[in-house]
Formats: sequence, structure tokens, C-alpha cells
Amino acid sequence: MNPTYDFAGQVALVTGAAMGMGLATARTFAQSGAAVVLADIDGALAAGEAKRIVAEGGKAIGVACDVADEAQVAAMIDRTIAEFGRLDMAFNNAGIQVPSSDAAHELLENFERVTAVNQRGVWACMKHELRVMRGRGSGAIVNCSSLGGLVGLPERTSYHGTKHAVLGMTKNAAVEYAYSGDRDRLFRPNVTGNSAGSALGGFLAPIGHVPSTPGALCAALCRPVSRRSRRGV
Ligand SMILES: NC(=O)c1ccc[n+]([C@@H]2O[C@H](COP(=O)([O-])OP(=O)(O)OC[C@H]3O[C@@H](n4cnc5c(N)ncnc54)[C@H](O)[C@@H]3O)[C@@H](O)[C@H]2O)c1
Repeated sequence: MNPTYDFAGQVALVTGAAMGMGLATARTFAQSGAAVVLADIDGALAAGEAKRIVAEGGKAIGVACDVADEAQVAAMIDRTIAEFGRLDMAFNNAGIQVPSSDAAHELLENFERVTAVNQRGVWACMKHELRVMRGRGSGAIVNCSSLGGLVGLPERTSYHGTKHAVLGMTKNAAVEYAYSGDRDRLFRPNVTGNSAGSALGGFLAPIGHVPSTPGALCAALCRPVSRRSRRGV
């Protein structure tokens, strides 16, 4: 059964929304009635996808934002408030991979970039989303980690380090805001759209449901931020 969601009157922000899972999630939010901010380092692509949502009858804007730059993240949040007046839900999805490397030979520039986007980007997004959500006393944040946030694999030191950090920051923020009316949820997508996903899904099953298709993933993402679960912490 495919669950349906009613986000009419609410505002959702998705980073890394110009393609992949971010775009699929942004479109699902829009189809569920939310006004959506599609933020991406590729502002032109995000704007094009936002236009497509508007042409289909939804509400959306595209915003150029490199999440590794805190000033751009702050501006993205301010633009969201200026455009739609509030922020109810955020999916901090933007993330990159760097080339696989033996830890002894990993390039500093690759470590610096993947950390800047995957870890500092999620930190900056949470910081500025919480800034406006605290003001209203409600909101839901979902951070995108990975299988790589739970396990180790060869030649993945930098990327996996960032995804472990996402889980750590998410747990911490969840504890910090547990009694304030805000919530912070963590989200662990499986590898999507290939056969490795099925194999790894089995491995992760004891930890929780791990969707392996974009559709299932979006449905799972919408669940923690739906109105029905809004009272839960
Ligand atoms: N695809 C998978 O199998 C998989 C598995 C585990 C985790 N993830 C995580 O899921 C998230 C999305 O993955 P995807 O496969 O859909 O990615 P993707 O490469 O298809 O899309 C990523 C989007 O993020 C944007 N982006 C990249 N750097 C950015 C930055 N600095 N600021 C803002 N936007 C930026 C890109 O332009 C792109 O639109 C990532 O965090 C990734 O680490 C993906």
C-alpha cells in the first residue's frame, strides 16, 4: 500500500535537490501539497526542476547553495522565510563521494572537500534550520547518512567518516531538542537502484527498515515528518 500525505500549508526544504534522491523527495513533498525549496550547488538545474513542479501545479523555488559555505546556507534559509514565511521540514540530503583510496594514500583535498560538504554542510544546515524552527517552536529535520555511517569498508575512510559524523550530530541534536518541541530524525538510505542495495538491505535489517528504491525511500522520509507523527519526539 502506498501511504499518502497532506502537507498543505507547510514548507519543506531539500538540499541537493536538483537530481537523485533529493529531487525525488522534493517532488514527493510538492505532490503532497507542501511548498518546496529546492536547494543545490547547481542553481540552474534546481531552478529548472522547481519550474517543472510549478508547471505541474505545485509551489516551489530553486535556490543556488553550496552547503559547504555557511553564509550561503544562512542566505538559503533567509530566502525560504522571505518567500514562504516559514520552514516546517528540512531534508539535509546534499552529499558527495570522493574517489576510493587506500587510507595511506588519500589526498588531503579529497578529505577536505567531502568533509566540508557532507559533515560541515549538514552542521550548517541544521544550525540555520534550527534558528528559524526554534522561533516557531516546531519543525522536523531529516539528515541523510548512509550505510557508510554504520559500517566500515575498505578505501572509504573519508566518506564513511563524514557519514558517521552525520549520525553523531543527528543524535546529539535530537537529545538537545528532545524537550523543546523540536525534533531531529536520522535517516539511513540504502544504496539505491542497484543490486547491491538488496544485499546490503538484508544486512541492515536488524537496525531498521532500509528502503532500496527512490519511491520507498521518499515514503519513508515523509513518514517521520507527517502531521500524524508531529506530536512525537
Ligand atoms: N545513491 C546512493 O546509493 C546513496 C547511498 C548512501 C547514501 N547516499 C547519500 O544520499 C545523498 C544523495 O545521494 P544521491 O545519490 O541522490 O546523489 P546525487 O549525486 O544523485 O545528487 C546529489 C545532489 O547534490 C548536489 N550537491 C553536490 N554537492 C553539493 C553542495 N556542496 N551543496 C549543495 N548541493 C550539492 C548535486 O548537485 C546533486 O544535485 C548523499 O548525501 C549521499 O551521500 C546515497
